[in-house]
Amino acid sequence: MPVRCLITEEQIGRGVDELARRISADYAGRNLTLIGVLTGSIILVADLMRRISLPHKLGLLQASSYRESATRPGALRINLDLLPDVAGRDVLLVDDILDTGATMARLMDEIRSRGAASVRCAVLLWKQSRTTAPIKPDYHCFDIPDEFVVGYGLDYGDEYRHLPYIGVLEGGREAQSAE
Ligand code: IMP
Ligand code: MG
Repeated sequence: MPVRCLITEEQIGRGVDELARRISADYAGRNLTLIGVLTGSIILVADLMRRISLPHKLGLLQASSYRESATRPGALRINLDLLPDVAGRDVLLVDDILDTGATMARLMDEIRSRGAASVRCAVLLWKQSRTTAPIKPDYHCFDIPDEFVVGYGLDYGDEYRHLPYIGVLEGGREAQSAE
């Protein structure tokens, strides 16, 4: 399927630089743990942690929401087997995109219930017009319109994650399964 570039590799680089600067300033003197949400966040997490100038730990968890269409999020499945002990830690959840917000809202509750000292979230992209959960990202790099995007970790049917830019999949609004 054709992909139209929405955010270039250079723009992403500058956005992640700025994100890392803000996180480094805000978390100075605290015991930061980044928690990456698999699979879509892997490229952002890898780029972000190399730019954060503070010592910090890394944990991972997996969340998948299988969808019949872009406008109907499916059941959310989460796997916390890889999650380290977060009790007393300042946790920053990192995901590729905040869409309806259902995934992030649920994950933040899970981390809070495990005794984290604080829980915030950072995403590369925010599709604000679609967010229905009572949540907004504490940190985000780019606002995007209501279009299905791929690249820089984001997939369509587990493909396109490798693209170094964010693109809009032309004709890809039906039968989506996003993970
Ligand atoms: P939410 O729970 O609706 O906020 O959806 C969050 C998850 O859905 C993200 O972690 C993505 O994996 C996936 N997702 C939402 N929108 C897109 C998109 O435009 N492209 C690819 N994946 C998406
Ligand atoms: Mg995801």
